[in-house]
Amino acid sequence: MRFFIDTANIEEIKEANDLGVICGVTTNPSLIAKEGRDFIEVVKEITDIVDGPISAEVISLNAEGMVAEAEKLVKIHKNIVIKLPMTEEGLKATKILSQRGIKTNVTLIFSSVQALLAARAGATYVSPFVGRLDDIGQNGMDLIAEVVEIFNANNIETQIIVASVRNPIHVSQAATIGADIATVPLKVIKQMTKHPLTDKGIENFIKDWEGASLKL
Ligand code: E4P
Repeated sequence: MRFFIDTANIEEIKEANDLGVICGVTTNPSLIAKEGRDFIEVVKEITDIVDGPISAEVISLNAEGMVAEAEKLVKIHKNIVIKLPMTEEGLKATKILSQRGIKTNVTLIFSSVQALLAARAGATYVSPFVGRLDDIGQNGMDLIAEVVEIFNANNIETQIIVASVRNPIHVSQAATIGADIATVPLKVIKQMTKHPLTDKGIENFIKDWEGASLKL
């Protein structure tokens, strides 16, 4: 399983990129709005930092508008992936864009049949949301398991991006199930680096080294 970072914040993207663990970025309208800056400008800056798929989401609710926005967004950089909502109009736009060779990420997926439809419309990626399902008392990871099983059984090449990731347990479960990608907030990436025994181990190594008056 590979990692994308789920943010539109340039500093966070730089920090995660410097760790060497991410190979793409996902944004959404809420994340862009949080930055309070021009959408196109933010996306452009992201493409200068990360050399991998960068999801930029359309705002229109009809296929025609989505396709028009997508055509504008793909001009920013070759790595732009068009993120579209899982609706009938979103499916129509996904089909048109895939026929034009434009990569797509169908988002707001909350059921396995939604993921299957998006794949059949030609989506490059689907984004099932785990955290938001957990929030309403369902097990978000069950959805990931189901989508992985369906895609494997049907030789579907559309890649699964586990989205709405809230903690390192989500990440390890998604990797165990065999999802292609997890898009993870910086906070969770940082949590994943930590273990108390790692810190304790370093402390002891340094203490022993200094106690022996050694030099490197
Ligand atoms: C995915 O692409 C979305 O941007 C994101 O994962 C949503 O996460 P949230 O449910 O924490 O807002």
